[in-house]
Amino acid sequence: MTDLHETAKALVAEGKGILAADESDSTIKKRFDSIGLESTEDNRRAYRELLFSTEGAEEFISGVILFDETIRQSASDGTPFPKLLESKGIIPGIKVDKGAKPLPLAEGETITEGLDGLRERLAEYRGLGARFAKWRATYSIGRDQPSEYCVWTNAHALARYAGLCQEAGLVPIVEPEVLQDGTHTIEQSATATGRVLQAVYTELHDQRIDLYGTLLKPNMVLSGYDASDRAGADEVAEATLDVFLRHVPAAVPGIVFLSGGQSDEDATAHLNAMNARGPHPWELSFSYGRALQAPALKAWQGKPENVEAGRSAFYHRAKMNSAARTGMYAPEMEREAAAVS
Ligand code: 13P
Repeated sequence: MTDLHETAKALVAEGKGILAADESDSTIKKRFDSIGLESTEDNRRAYRELLFSTEGAEEFISGVILFDETIRQSASDGTPFPKLLESKGIIPGIKVDKGAKPLPLAEGETITEGLDGLRERLAEYRGLGARFAKWRATYSIGRDQPSEYCVWTNAHALARYAGLCQEAGLVPIVEPEVLQDGTHTIEQSATATGRVLQAVYTELHDQRIDLYGTLLKPNMVLSGYDASDRAGADEVAEATLDVFLRHVPAAVPGIVFLSGGQSDEDATAHLNAMNARGPHPWELSFSYGRALQAPALKAWQGKPENVEAGRSAFYHRAKMNSAARTGMYAPEMEREAAAVS
């Protein structure tokens, strides 16, 4: 087995998933605004240190996706973050796209940029300790959206990125996110997600990507967040599994879902409902940002005296999602934990 295959499998090891802590400057500012904290370089560093130094989180967390600034930062004792993570057996990764920008001549749609100079950036990140990477494309559901133009240009870019990663010895996490905002039905979400995945796997195949050395990071198939009659966990699990069984080859070792705008407990319950229906051809795991971090951020509030409270909130969410990896999560586990603390 090659290193790429080993890394991909290690990222979806039993009971484990990925922490997405790769918020760009503008996104982390939004998160800090929610707790009234200024987004300075040291506040961002302190927050990431809180997460990465949570004792025992390595039982549930296989890898962490870092942002360009974060991969160059260190813990307060001077240990560079990638070294700190490695010392706990957690694999460091890096977001390498440069964001979703307006797609020319396609009102309201986006194309993800960042291919120029990517080969050189990947070599540098590899030197800084990264073993995997992430690139996110976004698609909206609407009248005539996503367009074929948007679906295929983003698929092409995702495959270009994936090829450069594999050449550099990094596992590409391929992230096509069909945004679940709006009032669409779960059927519309299934159709859009299926079209996007079909294009992504066509391009990955045509551009010679070794699927065993990749992971897929998709949205779940949901009713729109503003839809009136939203599907429950069982329907979400059935619809999501149906789309992925049709469109994702079994050579892909794992599907690591993003949380999107789901509440932290919904994201856990949905993953659990899918794993309870297993076994599946691929590992079904998580690569959550908001759904792993929201309670920790709220508990911390940017105050040094709340660091321990922030860590225990993060530890708890990681543990709940680890249980959801095997279909063993139950909402009562949330209340039991609350009673203990
Ligand atoms: P969310 O889980 O908050 O959607 O973030 C995951 C991610 O990495 C989005 O690119």
